[in-house]
This record gives sequence, structure tokens and C-alpha cells, in this order.
Amino acid sequence: MCGIVGYVGDRNAFPILVNGLKRLEYRGYDSSGVALAQNGEITLYKKQGMVKAMEELALAGDTSGSTGIAHTRWATHGQPSDENAHPHVSNSGNLVLVHNGIIENYQALKELLQDNGFEFHSETDTEVLVNFIQYIQDQEDCKLKKAVRIALAQVIGAYAICIYDKNKPEEVVVAKLGSPLVIGLGVNEKFIGSDATPFLEYTKDAIYLEDGEMATLTAEGELDIRLIQSDKAVNAQVHKLQMDLESIEKGGYDYFMMKEIYEQPRAIYDTFRGRLLPEQGMIKMSGLEEYADRFRNADRIIMTACGTSWHSALVAEYLFEEFARIPVEVEYGSEFRYRNPIIRKNDVVIAISQSGETADTLAAIKMAKEAGAMVFGICNVPGSTIARETHAGAYTHAGPEIGVASTKAFTSQVTVLTMMALELGKIRGEFSTSQYRALLNELSVIPKKVEKVLESKELVEEISALYKDANNALYLGRGVNFPIALEGALKLKEISYIHAEGYPAAEMKHGPIALIDENMPVIVVAPNAGHYEKLVSNVQEVKARHGKVIAVVTEGDTEVVQSADHVIEIPETLEALTPLLTVIPLQLLSYYIAVMRGCDVDRPRNLAKSVTVE
Ligand code: AGP
Repeated sequence: MCGIVGYVGDRNAFPILVNGLKRLEYRGYDSSGVALAQNGEITLYKKQGMVKAMEELALAGDTSGSTGIAHTRWATHGQPSDENAHPHVSNSGNLVLVHNGIIENYQALKELLQDNGFEFHSETDTEVLVNFIQYIQDQEDCKLKKAVRIALAQVIGAYAICIYDKNKPEEVVVAKLGSPLVIGLGVNEKFIGSDATPFLEYTKDAIYLEDGEMATLTAEGELDIRLIQSDKAVNAQVHKLQMDLESIEKGGYDYFMMKEIYEQPRAIYDTFRGRLLPEQGMIKMSGLEEYADRFRNADRIIMTACGTSWHSALVAEYLFEEFARIPVEVEYGSEFRYRNPIIRKNDVVIAISQSGETADTLAAIKMAKEAGAMVFGICNVPGSTIARETHAGAYTHAGPEIGVASTKAFTSQVTVLTMMALELGKIRGEFSTSQYRALLNELSVIPKKVEKVLESKELVEEISALYKDANNALYLGRGVNFPIALEGALKLKEISYIHAEGYPAAEMKHGPIALIDENMPVIVVAPNAGHYEKLVSNVQEVKARHGKVIAVVTEGDTEVVQSADHVIEIPETLEALTPLLTVIPLQLLSYYIAVMRGCDVDRPRNLAKSVTVE
């Protein structure tokens, strides 16, 4: 998804546009751009990377102008690049447009335009749209709003667009179908945004365009809203925005953490979109392809990270060794950087970091590079230091993660690592095509299964109320779900301040079982996979010592349910993919307990979202 901002009025548009884009970066940030109306011309500034990069480019130039449109992009058609960044200008140089959505029949329109002499400079469907509107305007010799209406009636797909003609910059035309678009009504000024955050401090009066509607905005004039198909006037309702800036950014949730927990189906989907291709039975990851030989010939993979990202590396250790048969070692960045590790030039290092700024992980990367290893990065922030420091990489597309407790970034990291394990297994010829395709097909439906797990939120909230006053908690898991036990314990301790530990379930008898009594909640991750029968025994061992058991089980479970005090179900899936589902109830449990304890869930004490110091 992308973010759109527009302004027409008597202020300088540029600061409004850039600040608005920064608030919309949660919608995507692989490139951004602004188009300013200056002395009858269009001044364009476009740049790959975060909005800040484009802002710096523009501030070196002329940023005057009281009409402007702007865009922050999450690439669909065409790689992140300066050329593919919006806004896009028509061949005549008269029209400029920003767009959020997908034009499905853009190829047919592009061929029609090319047959009529139009040329294209980007790979985007958006450049086709702005030229198609130009084409209609030329054919019909009509005003912009009529050309937009006729053009959109022939477009198939989803869009929220903002367009103006350099010869009449005081008039901005917008239209919506399938992607959000909000109009802010100021005094002698109008604002446009994908949501209301870009203009909230200027006006609380907003109109949410409905699907199939378009509008023509001028600074002073009344808003002219019409139906695209019939050109019939629409009398739209003006909303008085109640929410403050932060609550709009929270999408109506009480905390960013809960918003981000619920964004996980989308984050996982966006992370594998364009990479996981079940119909073709393949995975395409450019960073991996570029270094396929290094991975193919790797003697060992060293994964280095911190905190939750270290847990995703632990999950990956099981998957890489299972599917790619490559020895994997997982290292805390902080430990790896200070001991004198043996790193050989045939080693491949994978560094995992949501922020891409964690000092310990960054130091580990630099040390590995000096030793001659190839370093592959998995980050959530394009253009971050770690993303720039590594030889290659693969971004997670979780969108900005604001809550200090990492949730959607974790499941997105596991998604990338799962695809890498599958692809490397295929490259190294380590497992059968049928097994590969079964995993690939199942991964493609995981977002739907995450949505199903999220339906258990009321049950988790009830359970949380029973254990919110606990002083300790024990998390147990086996195999690929042992790291999930660690992750669940970290979530609980970092936002509720309850002491919690994660252990391999089998390790309990080597010490931790001494902790079990009626005051100890024990969370057992026990999906019907792998070592299930042994987990059934572990639950019974806890119950024999009066511990309270909260079990995460596969729906339809018949054995653990007989002993556990509470069960939270996940849908059936393949063992390798269970971490993407079993972690969800543990995220919800930590969230509700922290809220019930009156903790600041998004900003827990003593913590920061990105630990850029040693
Ligand atoms: C996780 O919930 C914590 N916020 C913390 O452990 C975090 O995962 C760690 O600091 C690593 O951050 P990074 O992924 O940005 O490198």
C-alpha cells in the first residue's frame, strides 16, 4: 500500500506534503516524491528510500508553490527506484499524478498509448494512467475532470488518485475506488490524504470519499463531488475528526502493539508477495539469487541478531538445517562481536534486524565482513544502516513497527527465513519437489490462518485476567517451537515486567521443574506436530506439581486438553510453519496482561525501539 498527500491553498505546500508523507510511511517507504506547481510549470523531486532522502534532495532546490501532490511508495509494478517513484508526469508535460492501488488492465492501455505515440520512462502502471488521462483529454478536447472521469470509467483495478494540470494548478482532481482517500476542508485551503494524519493539525473537518466517487478541489471553492460513472453530484457528509494524531496512526487501537499484532496477516502477505509464487511453484528472491553460489557452497551459516530477531534466527536454524542441510550457528550480536570467533571466508552470515540500526548486530556484521564472509541482511527499514552495510539482503515488508515489543516484524522475519530455507534446499537439491510445493502452498495460506488465530483474542483476554498478578511464568516448547517459548517469555517480561523464562520442554526436568507450584503459570507450545506426545507428558508433569498450564494446541486437540487448565487453538498447518501461528496467542497474552497491569505497552520502562548503543 502507498501513501498520498495533496494540498491546494495559500500556504507553502512543501512542508505540509513532506510532513504528511512521514506520517504515512507506515503505508510504505521504498521511494517518495512531490510535484509542486511553480510559475506554470511542474517541479518534481523523487527519490528512492525513506521520505527523508527525498526531502533532502528537494531542500537543495526550489520548494515554493501553494499547490502540490506527494506520494510514498510500496512497490507493486516496478522495483523501488527514482524513475518508478511517484508523482508521474504525462508525455505532454501538462499532467502530474500520484496513485495508490493497482491498474489491472494497464498493459492493454499501455499498448493503446504506445500505438498512439506515447513513450514510457518507468515500469509503473501509474505512468500509464496519467498518460491515458492525457490521451482522453486530447481526444475529447475537454477539461481535466471530464478526462479523468472518462478515463477511469475504462480502468479496471483499484485506485486513489490525485492529479492536476500545470496550466490550471489551482484545481486538483481526486478519485477513489478500492484505496482510501480523505479530503480535509480548511479555510481557503483543501488537503488530501490516504488517511487524515497529514492534515489533522490544520483541520478536523474531513470528507471520506466513497468508492466510485471523484472530486474537484480548489482552495476557496466548494467541493464538487461526483459519481465517476454517471457524473451525478454527490452531497457528502463532513466528519468532525475526533481522534488525535496518534490515535489515527493507531488505526483506532489502544496501542500500536495491538494494531501491529492485527497487521500480521497483511505483513506476512506483503513480505511474501511477489516472492512466493505458488502457481509457478517457485520462490523468487533477488538478493538470494544474486549470491546463490555463495549460499550453495557455504560450509556454514552464522546468523546474528538481538532480542526478538535472535529468536527468528533460532527458528531459522531448525528450518535451514531441515531443508537446506546447511550447518547453522545462531549468535547474539553482542556476544559474537566481542569474542574472537572463527569466521571463514566460505561462511555466510545472515544478520537480522527490524530497525536495521542495532549497534551490536551492526558491529558483528562489520567483523564478519572483515573476515571475508558474505553478509546477507534481513531488515524492515529500507535504507537503514544494516541494510546498507550488508552485501545483499531481503526486506521484510511489515511496514513501520512502532510498538517497542516486536510482533509483525518477527513473523515477517520468519516468513523471509522460511522462504530462504525452502529456496536454499531446492538450490542444494536437498528435498523433493512435492515437499517443496506443499510447504510453498501452505505458506501462501498462512495469512488466513493467522486471522483465524486472532479470533481467539477474547479467550486470551479472559485467561490473561487470571494470571495478570503472577510474579513468574515459564514458557515451554520443543523443536521449532522452542524459540517461540523464548519469544513468548520475552514479550511478557518486556511489557508487563513479570519475570518469565523460556525453556526447551525436555529441559524442565534438569532444573526448572523445581519452580513449579500452584502459583506458576506454565505456557506450553504444543501443536500437533513433531514431539507432541512428549509435550503431552510435559504438561502432565507440570500438573502433577500443581502448576497452571496454558497450552497452545492444534484445533481438535484431544490429549493436551485433558490436562491443561486452558487451551488456545491454532489451525492445522505443517510443523515447519507452526511458529507463525503459535506465537500469536503469546503476543496477545503478553499484551492483555500488560494492559491489565497498567503498563505502557508501546513504551515499556527502560526500553527503546532501536538499541543503537552498546
Ligand atoms: C523485541 O520485542 C525487543 N523490542 C528487542 O528485543 C528487539 O527485538 C531487539 O532490540 C533487536 O532489535 P532489531 O530487530 O531492531 O535489531
